[in-house]
Amino acid sequence: MQDNSRRIVTNQTGPHRDLVKRVVRALEHPLRKPVAEHSLAAFREAQQWLARQGGPPILDAGCGVGLSTRALARRFPDRAVIGIDRSADRLSRRHGEPPGNVLLVRADLVDFWRLALDAGWRPRRHYLLYPNPYPKASHLKQRWHGHPVFPTLLALGGRLELRSNWRLYLEEFALAAARAGGGTAEVQPFAPQGEYLTPFERKYHQSGQALWRLVLDLPPRARYDER
Ligand SMILES: C[S@@+](CC[C@H](N)C(=O)[O-])C[C@H]1O[C@@H](n2cnc3c(N)ncnc32)[C@H](O)[C@@H]1O
Repeated sequence: MQDNSRRIVTNQTGPHRDLVKRVVRALEHPLRKPVAEHSLAAFREAQQWLARQGGPPILDAGCGVGLSTRALARRFPDRAVIGIDRSADRLSRRHGEPPGNVLLVRADLVDFWRLALDAGWRPRRHYLLYPNPYPKASHLKQRWHGHPVFPTLLALGGRLELRSNWRLYLEEFALAAARAGGGTAEVQPFAPQGEYLTPFERKYHQSGQALWRLVLDLPPRARYDER
């Protein structure tokens, strides 16, 4: 067994004490930050591609080099699968020609999710695989459930699956989703059984780290807000 990937180091002993406050603030104050030009252009291209493919897409949010996007496209050959990442470098790595039902998009998810919701996208499945953990307590705002875009992510609906090597990230996400009205689900241990969906999954598992999964079935909504 290799032990070459860093374990999570955090100064938190449980869910962040400001978690609920952050979620309520996000529900009360929808994000108004203008979308970046490059994200808008990328979204428009994705929209045209999706119209040609037809049907609700599967989203692979923060897809990195896009290996998971390819694997999901093979697993769901009748669906259009869109991998989104902000890193041009990661997206440019050569991993062979993707299947015809794959599109890799360079965009900021904070923009892409809002554009997708406004355009009426209703992904069937939505994957957030090994998001950057931002493990210091002072980083809460950078975790997706501490970010003002969180209600938009939930409002897209569908089966949302998160995986992480940091159990607390998923526990916080589940608490935040429940607080926002997105339903409840348990964080489960996850064993890849030798088949890895992503490079980070491979790296963490091969270095002996425990992996965790959270699956939420989210009803699509025009928006989540504080009622
Ligand atoms: C830890 S990596 C995981 C990559 C891949 N899912 C995997 O498991 O191998 C997190 C990825 O999320 C992407 N990312 C983080 N914040 C993002 C944002 N705001 N918009 C788009 N991509 C983002 C990063 O560029 C990075 O590729």
